[in-house]
Amino acid sequence: VDLIWADSADPADFFWAHRGLSGSYPENTIPSLSAAYESGAKWIETDVDICDDGTLLICHDSTLDRTTNVSGRAVDLVAEDLAHVDAGGWFSPKFVGTPLPSLDEVVALVNETGGNLNLELKPTEAGARAAHSLVSGVLDELEAIEDPSRVLISSFSPLLLATLHQAAPQYPIACLFEQATLGPDWLTVCELVGASAIHPELAGLTREMVQEFKAAGLQVHVWTVNDLATANKLRNWGVDAVFTDFADRFIAAWAN
Ligand code: G3P
Ligand code: CA
Repeated sequence: VDLIWADSADPADFFWAHRGLSGSYPENTIPSLSAAYESGAKWIETDVDICDDGTLLICHDSTLDRTTNVSGRAVDLVAEDLAHVDAGGWFSPKFVGTPLPSLDEVVALVNETGGNLNLELKPTEAGARAAHSLVSGVLDELEAIEDPSRVLISSFSPLLLATLHQAAPQYPIACLFEQATLGPDWLTVCELVGASAIHPELAGLTREMVQEFKAAGLQVHVWTVNDLATANKLRNWGVDAVFTDFADRFIAAWAN
């Protein structure tokens, strides 16, 4: 692959760490997020959901089954259920005992490192009231980050994004789309929620689509790109960043 990085741009701006360094660490844990920053990534991505008692949960799936040693849906859990969860052993025996992080800990890491955070609000299965609690809980935690431009809020749910944007317009917003939901109304959705970025799925993405997103004035961040040849092609198309599970390797490869 002929890698293009002829300009002075920094590869650390291009490769965003999807659930942290999730190729080498248990996703969405502090070791994964912290290793991503240590490897030079400027942006980490993580997912936040809400439990039955209003506790915020850093977890990608709507259940804990795949990524921890317990099972259950976020909507059925309370804080006590999360206290002794092992979120590392499923990935490798090396990580047995890794706790589930709180959003508070993620925010502390962002502040310690001076990094940037893309926080994805998971569409809660608990309905509109919980959606409101999710947004207000997240906003309470984010207050500890002084500069709102270091945070990018994304979601597949226009309701969550619009609710957040109305309450706290200082935070940049990104609309997430799967190809299946990327219909002709993408621009209307982005405008309605005040988005400055669009996060389309890689599968089915074309150069023409990227050009349309850019022509609309949006930053384009594509998920999830785990090979360098594809990353290279997307950069040629004008994509601003890609989410990858291998931010460490890709930043190093491109820098050399
Ligand atoms: O935010 C980009 C990407 O994380 C969206 O998909 O399923 O990995 O949360 P998913
Ligand atoms: Ca995500």
